[in-house]
Parts: sequence; structure tokens; C-alpha cells
Amino acid sequence: MERLDKTVAQLADMPRKQAVHLIRAGRVTVDGEVWRTPEAKLEPAAHVVSVAGHVIDTQPHRYYMLNKPQGVLCVSRDPKVKTVVDLVPPAFRRRGLFPAGRLDKDTVGLVVLTDDGDYAHRLLSPKKAVFKRYLAVVAGEMPQTAVETFAAGMELEDETRCLPAKLQILSCEEFMNRNGGDFASFATFLEEYTIPSMADYSCVEIAIQEGRYHQIKRMCEVVGHKVLWLKRVAVGDLTLDPALAEGECRELTAAETAAALRSVEEFCAS
Ligand code: URA
Repeated sequence: MERLDKTVAQLADMPRKQAVHLIRAGRVTVDGEVWRTPEAKLEPAAHVVSVAGHVIDTQPHRYYMLNKPQGVLCVSRDPKVKTVVDLVPPAFRRRGLFPAGRLDKDTVGLVVLTDDGDYAHRLLSPKKAVFKRYLAVVAGEMPQTAVETFAAGMELEDETRCLPAKLQILSCEEFMNRNGGDFASFATFLEEYTIPSMADYSCVEIAIQEGRYHQIKRMCEVVGHKVLWLKRVAVGDLTLDPALAEGECRELTAAETAAALRSVEEFCAS
């Protein structure tokens, strides 16, 4: 059970004082009845609460998927640069919304946003082994021997040891298929780098179960390859919706919210 003033402040995203004021002024209704007591208790999700005539969202938590474009910061707020939370449409905004996991400014693709701290912890904890899958284009020809180096759990340049990861070297065609038909960002990349031949770059898919700082870029550096383009395509069993254009965001279904948590432990055994 929650206090009415706390519920209104949290779910209508306003200071507690303002919520108390609105409740005392008779502007808050619960199931159509005016409630004037800020301390009154209720189970928010079980009621229709309205503030100044507008029904507020009483679901305890929300879960969204966003297709992050390049140049956007994967944080809640920044005074100068656009963030992933800024891309969430106003109707989806909630207090405490944050990205569950970081992507670099230049990395594109799947970001899960939520206001549920426990859920985010389960997604991110290395103990839960939720694999995050990335498509990458790296400079030069990635040799097959790198597959074993990734699978063994490599040591980064600062001697941090990574958990086993899976590297697959892909043909250009397979890479495009796995990219869900998103040719646009890849074409921009090709233009930017004006790459003349296949031998100058490799297309790979990498699955990691941690989220260390610049992890994919640093792992690729260890085997001698610079990451030129990076996109997250899946978290657990949740894959980026190909219908979601860069910068777009939509709510996850309950099945998708659960799928993101699913561990893919057999991944590294194959
Ligand atoms: N690894 C990286 O190097 N960058 C990302 O954004 C995500 C994983």
C-alpha cells in the first residue's frame, strides 16, 4: 500500500508538495471519488487515479525498447547532449526512467529503459549471465583464431579478465540479414569510411555477458582490430524490433520483458 500523495507525486511526476496541494484542493480522484487526504493509503495499480481531470498511469513500472541513434548519450540526463531518455515520447515519460545498461555515444541499437531498479540489476549483473549481442564492423580481416580467444575469456589491456564471450565471423550477406534489413546506418558507415574492399574490414557478431566500459571495442583491440561500427541487436532473448526506426521507442510486452532476462548460457558452449 502507498500513500496517495506519494503515488500522485511519483506517477504524475511532480513535487510531493504540489501533490499534497492538489489533493487538498479536491483535484485528485480515486475510482471517480474525490480523495482529500494526502496520507490515505491505496494499492495504486488496483485503482483509476486522476489528477486535474487526467488519468495517471498507476502501473508500478514501465519497460521500453529504444533504437538508439549515434551521437545520443546513454544516460538519464545531460545538460548539453541529447540523451536516450530525451527520446522517450512524452506520453511514456515517468519519473526515475533510466537506461538499463550503457552504450557508447557512437554505438547504435537496442537500449532497454525502465524505472524498475531490480529488473535492471537482473539484466546487468554478470552473475545472471544475460548475454548481450552486438553486430560490429571491424578494421582488417578477423582471423578464425580470434573465436577461441573470445571463448576462453580474454584479458584486457588493463589485465581485467573477461568472462567467456562468443565471436562469429559473418559474411556480408549474413551480417545484413542479422541486421534486420537496416541498411541505412550501415550505408552511412560505408560512406563515412569509403571502404574499397572486403579485405579491409570484417563483419562480426559478438555476445558478451558483462557490460564493462568499452568492452567490445577493447576486446577487439586485444586481437588487433579496431571497431568501426557497433550496434546492439539483442539483450537476452529480446531482439531489437526491426520495425523500430533509429530514435524510436515502444513499450515492451510482458513476454518481451521476461525474454530480456532469459539467460542464453549454452551460447558459449556451441
Ligand atoms: N562495448 C563497447 O565497446 N561499446 C558499447 O557501446 C557497448 C559494448
